[in-house]
Amino acid sequence: MRKNIVAGNWKMNLLPEEGVDLVKSIIELDRPNDVVSIVCPSFTHLHAIREVLNDQSQIHLGAQDCSTHDSGAYTGQISAPMLKSLGAEYVILGHSERRAYQGESDELIREKTINALHHDLQVIYCCGETEDIRIAGNYIEHVLSQIKKAIFNLEETQIQRITIAYEPVWAIGTGKVATPDQAQEMHAAIRKSVANHYGEKIANSMSILYGGSCKPSNAKEIFSNPDVDGGLIGGAALKPADFVALHHSF
Ligand code: 13P
Repeated sequence: MRKNIVAGNWKMNLLPEEGVDLVKSIIELDRPNDVVSIVCPSFTHLHAIREVLNDQSQIHLGAQDCSTHDSGAYTGQISAPMLKSLGAEYVILGHSERRAYQGESDELIREKTINALHHDLQVIYCCGETEDIRIAGNYIEHVLSQIKKAIFNLEETQIQRITIAYEPVWAIGTGKVATPDQAQEMHAAIRKSVANHYGEKIANSMSILYGGSCKPSNAKEIFSNPDVDGGLIGGAALKPADFVALHHSF
């Protein structure tokens, strides 16, 4: 049985103390215990947030990126061992905002993924097409090609530590959400491609998340699709009631 997951990508929002307050508010609200909760704040917040989490809080900590290197002359970069030592369990890699603003290539994301897995982090690997590609009609090929280049080189034990997040770029922060059919079509294609490469068993145990303007008012319809196992959430993850409501949307 694969896991249902709600992961919050806070992006570059909130001061550390505001992040701590947000997590405290999430902890106070009732969540189903069969849904995995993950919060991914800025690097600067990880330590303070780790301090307020314990076994009872049932919230996992993730970061939003990491370097391909372990240490060295890489000003401004953060390494996987640093994240691990701060208590992060997950890292988001390949987010479209990093592809667009930091020029990250599939090749770089592949190297980051290998390094993060090597240091025992679980990876939330993001993929998704732009609006132009959606309109041109080759969106499935595009997304499958991203996945193939970045993660299909992994070994079986490694791929099982990957969660894929399908985030159509045209839906991120725009209020334009993919229809349940659009999400299901892509998620099914992704799962089939994982099955072709790694076998049905691994494909069926992989959680595939949807991201892009997902909020309590549209999540139920999206999450009810057979191949959608939850969401990677931006804006709505900054509001405790909305973030928790998403856990009740399966
Ligand atoms: P929004 O939910 O704000 O559209 O962001 C989605 C996202 O990019 C999560 O990684």
